[in-house]
Amino acid sequence: MSEPMTVPITGEEVARYVVARAVWAPSVHNTQPWRFTAGGQQISLYTDTGRRLAVADPDGREMMISCGAALFSVRLALRSLGYIPRTCVLPGPAQPELVARVSWPERADADEFERRLSGHLLTRRTHRGAFDPEPLPSGLLAALRAAAERDGTALRVVADGGRRAALAAAVENAENELRLGGERLRELARWTPAPGSACRDGVPATAYPARAERTEPHFPGRDFARGHGWGVPPLSAAGSRRAAGVAGLLTTTADRPADWVNAGQALQRILLTASTAGAAVALHSQPLELPWLREFIRTQLSDDAYPHLVLRFGLVTQVAVSVRRDPEDVLFPAAADHAGLR
Ligand SMILES: Cc1cc2nc3c(=O)[nH]c(=O)nc-3n(C[C@H](O)[C@H](O)[C@H](O)COP(=O)(O)O)c2cc1C
Repeated sequence: MSEPMTVPITGEEVARYVVARAVWAPSVHNTQPWRFTAGGQQISLYTDTGRRLAVADPDGREMMISCGAALFSVRLALRSLGYIPRTCVLPGPAQPELVARVSWPERADADEFERRLSGHLLTRRTHRGAFDPEPLPSGLLAALRAAAERDGTALRVVADGGRRAALAAAVENAENELRLGGERLRELARWTPAPGSACRDGVPATAYPARAERTEPHFPGRDFARGHGWGVPPLSAAGSRRAAGVAGLLTTTADRPADWVNAGQALQRILLTASTAGAAVALHSQPLELPWLREFIRTQLSDDAYPHLVLRFGLVTQVAVSVRRDPEDVLFPAAADHAGLR
């Protein structure tokens, strides 16, 4: 990835700096379903609907969550430069692909926490698998709950043993069902390049374990290797005690595109906050892609709030390596807003 070497000054330099960080936001299957345009002191963030998962994500909810995560990164990167972002989310029904406009009319120095958080924009990685048995740093869960609330969402920790087992069973049922669906498997194959591939999107074999470790209860990961035996060989000695971590649900009280963007912003705030505390996070959206399991989780495990992601938090030595497209491939001059973009 090309990094700007000097402090960005012009609007164009600021946009390049910010987008170089935003592209490292998490996205479903690393689809990176976004485009940016920049002009003057404004960045616009658009969905790239050609990258939506047509089978797994027909409504574009996961695409919007992914773009929301990128939006949070844009705002945080601006803060790290000492700008105060002014954000307008989903500015108009005439442009449903326009997720947000962000400008930076005023300045104020970033505080210590913003600086620490932004320091993890490029390095945070999704964890897949089990965790070490050690507990999370004290106070972290409270900080994560507060982080979710900042964006109008909730992080519901599922601590009760029975409910935790029910959540794990929902993930397992979904994963079993997804592995049987031909269309879904073909779609997954499009986003799971073979080892050594030059692809800059999708989930590379360097990002998931070759052998899933069982935990109690078991939250199975996605079958990115699809029987090819790809993935990172195990680090830990067999037989060591491994944990499922603290399980939680990211939810919103309504289920409109604006809520999905909020969920994405909250997700990125949560992931970065965990990262600054040395904790890793595993994401499971399998049961939320199947309407009846999403409804089960909504009514039985999240007090009728709409669930968007199952999250697991824990401590682990992370080895995952991911990929991204170059910022230049997703950033266009604002003049292209209405012209050649699509
Ligand atoms: C809406 C959404 C759903 C996701 N679902 C899963 C999932 O079910 N399983 C998983 O392993 N990762 C999931 N992820 C994480 C992405 O695969 C990950 O962000 C992407 O591959 C980029 O890798 P990185 O986060 O390590 O940079 C999801 C991310 C988002 C934003």
